[in-house]
Amino acid sequence: MKVSGILLQLSSFLLFTEAASATADSCCKSDIVSSAHHERILNNYLAIWNGDLSLVKSVFHPDVVLFSDRFPSSTGNGSEITGVTNRAEFASFVTRSRTGWASYEFTTIRSVSSGYDIAVRWKMDGVLGKNFTLFPTPLKPGSHVTYNGTDFLVLDECTGQVREDYIAQDLISYFHAMGLDAITV
Ligand SMILES: *[C@@H]1O[C@H](CO)[C@@H](O)[C@H](O)[C@H]1NC(C)=O
Ligand SMILES: *[C@@H]1O[C@H](CO)[C@@H](O)[C@H](O)[C@H]1NC(C)=O
Ligand SMILES: *[C@@H]1O[C@H](CO)[C@@H](O)[C@H](O)[C@H]1NC(C)=O
Repeated sequence: MKVSGILLQLSSFLLFTEAASATADSCCKSDIVSSAHHERILNNYLAIWNGDLSLVKSVFHPDVVLFSDRFPSSTGNGSEITGVTNRAEFASFVTRSRTGWASYEFTTIRSVSSGYDIAVRWKMDGVLGKNFTLFPTPLKPGSHVTYNGTDFLVLDECTGQVREDYIAQDLISYFHAMGLDAITV
């Protein structure tokens, strides 16, 4: 009696989980691990960094999380954690990063992708504008700045959107390029 009760519970549990995964599967995208999808995501990801914020909704999962190094605070005193734990915060982070640049362009040096992972080695070419306030710099507007970095994107297994973003910029090179030789941490 007891055993069959457990079996009954077990089989209804199995039925339930099968139904749940069938529902999840039916709304999942099917071509996520394809190179065409990787290419589309990477191109659009860089387009967002190049200023096309209209792509944020399609590229990022609503709960995208960013992992990155600390960054100098705008006061020039010490550094702050870049806390991004959703899509809206990511959009603000991009907007904040682009503020004060007359131009701010990312191009790909190399990229590789497999499964749910995309890695890109990028190059930033920028020209400083009038309102750069991200951190204090002695550079004058019109100065050309370039540096490189590496981003590692992890795609959501159902939607194929960027779920985790690991940004590893060449920060010391960046600060040198920005005319800083003493960084407070
Ligand atoms: C910099 O920040 C530290 C720690 O928050 C504080 O103790 C110090 O007074 C600040 N220095 C300046 C120049 O604001
Ligand atoms: C710079 O910032 C000020 C104050 O926020 C603003 O009024 C001005 O339009 C900005 N200039 C440029 C070139 O963005
Ligand atoms: C960025 O990478 C390119 C290509 O690998 C290289 O030529 C260039 O020197 C790098 N720039 C900096 C500032 O390290």
